[in-house]
Amino acid sequence: MQRYIGIDLGGTNIKGALVSETGKILKQRSVPTHTEAGAEAVTKTIAAMICALAEGESVSGVGMGCPGTVDDQEGTVVYACNLGWVHYDVRTALRELTGYSVRLVNDANAAALAEAAVGAAKGAQSAVVVTLGTGVGGGVVLNGKLLTGFTGAASELGHMTIVADGEPCACGQKGCFETYASATALIRMTREAMARHPQSALHRIAAENGGVDGRTAFLARQVGDAAGGEVVRQYIHYLAIGVGNIVNIFFPEVVALSGGIANQGENLLAPLREEAAQREYGAAYSKKHPRILCCTLGNDAGVIGAALFAKD
Ligand code: BGC
Repeated sequence: MQRYIGIDLGGTNIKGALVSETGKILKQRSVPTHTEAGAEAVTKTIAAMICALAEGESVSGVGMGCPGTVDDQEGTVVYACNLGWVHYDVRTALRELTGYSVRLVNDANAAALAEAAVGAAKGAQSAVVVTLGTGVGGGVVLNGKLLTGFTGAASELGHMTIVADGEPCACGQKGCFETYASATALIRMTREAMARHPQSALHRIAAENGGVDGRTAFLARQVGDAAGGEVVRQYIHYLAIGVGNIVNIFFPEVVALSGGIANQGENLLAPLREEAAQREYGAAYSKKHPRILCCTLGNDAGVIGAALFAKD
């Protein structure tokens, strides 16, 4: 049985795992990403993780999922707005530090590969995975193969415009899906509502949970807080605009959502499905509809997908 290492480089954490050729996690590690320390320091942390996972093992390949555009032929991260990396030759740096020639894949593409192979979209002929984290990522899998586009940068779903001249995005544009549907966006909207509503339960809930996070507004809504309910409604509205666009472009068998927000399950999915269905072209006349689901591999999708990518 061959074993691969998968690394998931995120804006918040670097996760790594030793993964079997069938997508089973055998060993796992996670450390915070100190993006502010710069690309070289982050690379050293990744290298240390690869070496720790490889110790005493025979490893057939290493793959890494990175946010942004990656060039797997060149071994570079071409542009990652949330890391601040531009044309960074991460493969050479990692080869020098670990001896492994690391294959590169976009992080959301890795998650999509994993969900299509062994997760929520297993058995589906076509699937789109949308990752709702620090940013919003996307991966499109058709008959088991990733849609890459001409340059490899296909399915940057987080950077489709959903609000003309809307909120500024880290990519330099305005109104990107990411600026309304990421966890970062949900936290921003929650903070804005807190400033407008000093009496809202949002304040108590945030204080009890060590600060505002992606759960604060959902928890407030559960206890009947109007401001929390309004944040959730707004958030799901924006998410539905993006998901509706994805449905109309790809009409995939499955659209699967991942990220901490997806842990809300039906609280999120039920209203999302309702609004997305209204946006689905010709829905009233069609017998078949894309299924909107939550991913099933949780935080492990990225590392599993990166490992599976190294295998192929
Ligand atoms: C990047 C994507 C990435 C996503 C999630 C976006 O800002 O452009 O490439 O998949 O964040 O990390």
